[in-house]
Amino acid sequence: MTDINLVKLSSNLKGEITIPGDKSISHRSIIFGSIAEGQTIVENFLTGEDCLSTIYCFKLLGVKIDVVDDKIHINGKGISSLLEPHEVLDVGNSGTTLRLMSGLLSAQNFHTVFTGDDSIKKRPMKRVVTPLKMMGARILGRNNGDNTPISIEGTELSGIRYEMPIASAQVKSAIILAGIQANGNTEILEEYKTRDHTERMLKAFGGNITITENSILVKKSSKLVGQSVYVPGDISSAAFFMVAATLVKDSRVKLLKVGMNPTRTGIIDVLENMGAKISYENVFEEAFEPFSDIVVESGNLIASELDGSIIPRLIDEIPIIALAATQAIGTTIIKGAEELKVKETNRIDTVVTQLKLLGANIEATSDGMVITGPTQLKGNVVDSNGDHRIGMMLVVASLIAEGTTTIKNIDAINVSYPNFFKHLEKLTH
Ligand code: S3P
Repeated sequence: MTDINLVKLSSNLKGEITIPGDKSISHRSIIFGSIAEGQTIVENFLTGEDCLSTIYCFKLLGVKIDVVDDKIHINGKGISSLLEPHEVLDVGNSGTTLRLMSGLLSAQNFHTVFTGDDSIKKRPMKRVVTPLKMMGARILGRNNGDNTPISIEGTELSGIRYEMPIASAQVKSAIILAGIQANGNTEILEEYKTRDHTERMLKAFGGNITITENSILVKKSSKLVGQSVYVPGDISSAAFFMVAATLVKDSRVKLLKVGMNPTRTGIIDVLENMGAKISYENVFEEAFEPFSDIVVESGNLIASELDGSIIPRLIDEIPIIALAATQAIGTTIIKGAEELKVKETNRIDTVVTQLKLLGANIEATSDGMVITGPTQLKGNVVDSNGDHRIGMMLVVASLIAEGTTTIKNIDAINVSYPNFFKHLEKLTH
């Protein structure tokens, strides 16, 4: 694991960068490309470690996946021709790979075992195992089926009607991927809408799915057809530069081709509400997902309150929103975000501990955090704790913190944004 020393930025952030592909959509492009018939070509695929884990797992299921001129070519096997893997499927740090593939493989006629890194081993699987078992799945795992290593004996499934007890796109997607192979209808009801990339992609690949205001109905979809997919830039990655440009004086950055799916744009709503200067150019409505260029200029922020249906729309951006809140006038309160406790780290703990080390006025609550600003941050020794989003948030903090900030375990950022430092360098020259 590598450490890095960073000093407060003496210049501003200027210029434009093309934000790397969306992590959630990249995973799904490999999944649907693999189970569709014919070729799927994916452009702007995110080659971060998490998405490479999904490719690795599908290769072990017999799918031919190649990189040709920066594009991913998938020779889809169809939904019934995946092969039993000879190896344990190691998902590394990727919860999305683990949860979504568990749904898919529960209905295949072979046996699979999943494992992952130390963080994955702590992440709850009951949330996925419970509805899949209701459909007839045969799954065993450590801690009564709540943790990896987990083993799935594929079998015939039946549809269910499931009211989501938590807001989770990974759980929803696992049920959808089981539902397209199950007998009868599978209906999923969500209190708060979570990211809908699985639904959009299933529809575009020819799957049998009907979406209403708060319910999703899926039927058996024996034949999906390969597609060309352009993956928009990841708004969760863009978020670090949106906040950086807002906080570093006299900045103006343009972030190209950022995904603008409304289930993901909570970060924009919050930053605009706090007073950030954001504008849009070149809005595209593509077959799968909308995207746009985003221009952000520096500005002063005021505190905000976050709760309810906005939380799933920005769940991965809470670490960087917390940093923004340390620079906003007033008290920012984040509630209803207990899901943060079961991310790559317990992000209530890691955000609060690390920002406190930099001098922030921030306290943890049972379901979020309370942050009072503005505070001049001061460099110190901090730690990503192996969490990519904590690592990048701390880099942005170092740009405005006085003196030197040392960030331990910085290589965690390769999970979702391997070019992060290259992009930062491009904007600081
Ligand atoms: C994801 C869903 C979210 C998010 C994660 C990616 C997905 O997790 O935090 O980074 O691709 O479906 P949950 O479904 O656990 O909320």
